[in-house]
Amino acid sequence: MTPAEQSRQAADICRLAPVVPVLVIDDLAHARPLAEALVKGGLPALEVTLRTPAALDAIRAMAEVPGGVVGAGTLLTPADVKAAKAAGARFGVSPGATERLLDACAEHDLPLLPGAATASEIMALLEKGYTVQKFFPAEQAGGAAYLKSIGSPIPQVSFCPTGGITLKLAPDYLGLKNILCVGGSWVAPKDAMARGDWGAITALAAEAAALGR
Ligand code: 3PG
Repeated sequence: MTPAEQSRQAADICRLAPVVPVLVIDDLAHARPLAEALVKGGLPALEVTLRTPAALDAIRAMAEVPGGVVGAGTLLTPADVKAAKAAGARFGVSPGATERLLDACAEHDLPLLPGAATASEIMALLEKGYTVQKFFPAEQAGGAAYLKSIGSPIPQVSFCPTGGITLKLAPDYLGLKNILCVGGSWVAPKDAMARGDWGAITALAAEAAALGR
């Protein structure tokens, strides 16, 4: 899949809701009820980070949930891309971008949201055809003010910023022309997951889904 086609598909996924939950799943038993709770609250696109041993099985379980669009985050290597695709991930997210990672996404037909944090990184990805990128780590790298400034010389690229974003900070990003959605883990707090308090997670998702763009 070409980078342009990957970005086209990534844009469609980013437009599903203002927020993409970034999920770290330790317990496989949480995967399905968590996905159901988030989809019920109005957040269909879900990023499962490949940071825990349960992550790939969690993607498999969540991919079965009606209405969900489950992707894999923290893609670092070609092996991650292959495993994510085999588990049923419909999109990929990476904190940065390497040639090997980009080649693997092209080869395995996985729409990638590649990470970038500087003008040169953004330009290098744009040169390849990636017009939709993840801005990471968003708050630490300059936040909404930085992305607003990038939008003047490089208006062709749209972003999903993630890293340090909260319900309170999200509107600063969502008000910008070059933002499609934001990513964040605040909608799935570890303590609510541990308690199995899926109602609380649906409420957080609903609050996030109601953010304006
Ligand atoms: C991440 O990859 O961890 C995301 O950027 C989420 O960051 P957050 O936990 O600060 O929302």
